[in-house]
Amino acid sequence: MAYNLLQGKKGIISGALDEKSIAWKIALKAKEEGATFTLTNAPIAMRMGQINKLAEACGAEIIPADATLVEDIEKLYTRSMEVLGGKVDFVLHSIGMSPNVRKGRSYGDLNYEWFLKSLDISALSFHKMLQVAEKLDAINEYGSVVGLSYIASQRTFPDYSDMAQAKAVLESIARSYGYRYGKLKKVRVNTVSQSPTKTTAGTGVGGFDAFFDYADKMSPLGNASAEECADYVISLFSDLTRKVTMQNLYHDGGFSSSGISEEIVEKMRQ
Ligand code: NAI
Repeated sequence: MAYNLLQGKKGIISGALDEKSIAWKIALKAKEEGATFTLTNAPIAMRMGQINKLAEACGAEIIPADATLVEDIEKLYTRSMEVLGGKVDFVLHSIGMSPNVRKGRSYGDLNYEWFLKSLDISALSFHKMLQVAEKLDAINEYGSVVGLSYIASQRTFPDYSDMAQAKAVLESIARSYGYRYGKLKKVRVNTVSQSPTKTTAGTGVGGFDAFFDYADKMSPLGNASAEECADYVISLFSDLTRKVTMQNLYHDGGFSSSGISEEIVEKMRQ
């Protein structure tokens, strides 16, 4: 059911790789709620991905941009403002990748070049998207910028490896830039800490199925799906959350506040 929450709003959505991507679901919901937006992803992801299908469904232009390159991000905002006819109201950062995780390096044997790459792709890119937006004055007052995070930023999940540091930096940037952008232009910056979700990035983490099931059993409401994440993010893009900023917002069925659940106790007894 649509509520016209984003009627007349313009935005930029990054990170839609395929139908499983959280960003893919957010794009479809944003369209349903009346927004117009551009889509972006790394040039390499476009060759593998099915983003054209999504662009068609949303009537959106695709603007390739490697989120680690400031000049690509500058082109992304400039072209988006041309296509959309003015400044944007929302920006989604849905970007994450760790070469160390992807190549199965253990936490005691990290490749530091790759570590820096994990940080650059998954965290600094959030700062770059904010800094370029500020310099180009590309976001309207009370605009909303959302990044996607995971609770491994706050608690240890061994297989999450250097992505845990990347997410900690991402959440910290939301606070620091949220303060600055709030003062300057009343722009809001938040991260949403989402349940484990079966996507390309998610299932790339070792032991994913086990911690997906564990999180599901630990959460009184069960894991939040990608569609439910999209609903939540739409609310953050909307005018209903105009004073929400500098937060890391858990969207996890209650996982982050649970110590243990009956289901886990039951499992331990078996
Ligand atoms: P996904 O694999 O569909 O999306 C990750 C995206 O990052 C892809 O579209 C990929 O092309 C893009 N990307 C990678 N390097 C890039 C670069 N240099 N420039 C621009 N884009 C680049 O997976 P998912 O799960 O939808 O991931 C989206 C976000 O959600 C990520 O930040 C991820 O860490 C976060 N998240 C995912 C969870 C999960 O369990 N799947 C749980 C909590 C957060």
